[in-house]
Amino acid sequence: MKEAATVESAGSPPAAPFDYVAETYDQTFTFTLIGWAQRQAVWRELDRIFQPGQRILELNCGTGVDALHLGGRGVEVLACDVAPRMIEVARRRLSARSTRARVEFRVLATEQMRALRNERPFDGAFSNFAGLNCVADLESVARDLAPLLRPGATALLCLAGRFVAWEIAWYLARGNPAKALRRFRRGAVRGRLADGVSVPVYYHGVRKVARLFSPGFRLRRWKGVGLLVPPSYLERQAGKFPRLFRLLAGADRLLAGVPGLRALADHLLLEFERA
Ligand SMILES: C[S@@+](CC[C@H](N)C(=O)[O-])C[C@H]1O[C@@H](n2cnc3c(N)ncnc32)[C@H](O)[C@@H]1O
Repeated sequence: MKEAATVESAGSPPAAPFDYVAETYDQTFTFTLIGWAQRQAVWRELDRIFQPGQRILELNCGTGVDALHLGGRGVEVLACDVAPRMIEVARRRLSARSTRARVEFRVLATEQMRALRNERPFDGAFSNFAGLNCVADLESVARDLAPLLRPGATALLCLAGRFVAWEIAWYLARGNPAKALRRFRRGAVRGRLADGVSVPVYYHGVRKVARLFSPGFRLRRWKGVGLLVPPSYLERQAGKFPRLFRLLAGADRLLAGVPGLRALADHLLLEFERA
């Protein structure tokens, strides 16, 4: 973990559910053992795919950690999120940088992506850690995204998985089958963010996402993120066994791409090609 989280009071009133957790998001996820290990797994693919000089559209960018990682590598990024306070944290992070990354943060819902139709075509798109699971109509997302990208561009999308081995085992062992199997439900599941604040979350399998993204996109390859590394709500347990945790994170590098195993991960990292 490289940076300390910044915590200051934000200026705008909360307008979106994630606004309520914007100031604590980095402490409770980004810079935790589990959050950081899962993000590193995504960055390995991100860095393989997107190259300096390219211009990328990031959806649901949150506090801007990935956009600034890309910006630090010389990738230009337009990073959008529906939550104004997430964008405020992201802009603070950008202005705290000594070197100027070519990164712009904008408040924009994924459902409003068509507002970008006059931008020059992007070389790729990226969405990390389940922002797309908060969108009810993924097919429309694919339809709106395709014309914004040049043909052959990559869209790297990280969604929450549906058949998560850790989650099923953990909650079944605690006698809570409803929670163990919540991601199998059809339609929205309420995801709790804070007291009295929740978001609808939609879980999909890989085949369904690939179908919703065709014909504009072709699924090139995919892998799991967080197969042996558990979901982030097990951070306290992970912290008790740091050596074991490092072993699991290392094993994930080998196993999370293996057919048959990859679908059991906390997140699914899908690499699409714009047709
Ligand atoms: C779990 S956070 C992930 C944030 C960031 N991508 C990361 O890797 O840390 C989910 C993000 O999706 C954003 N989000 C949820 N629904 C959205 C929508 N309809 N349009 C744009 N952003 C959305 C939230 O505001 C939040 O910042």
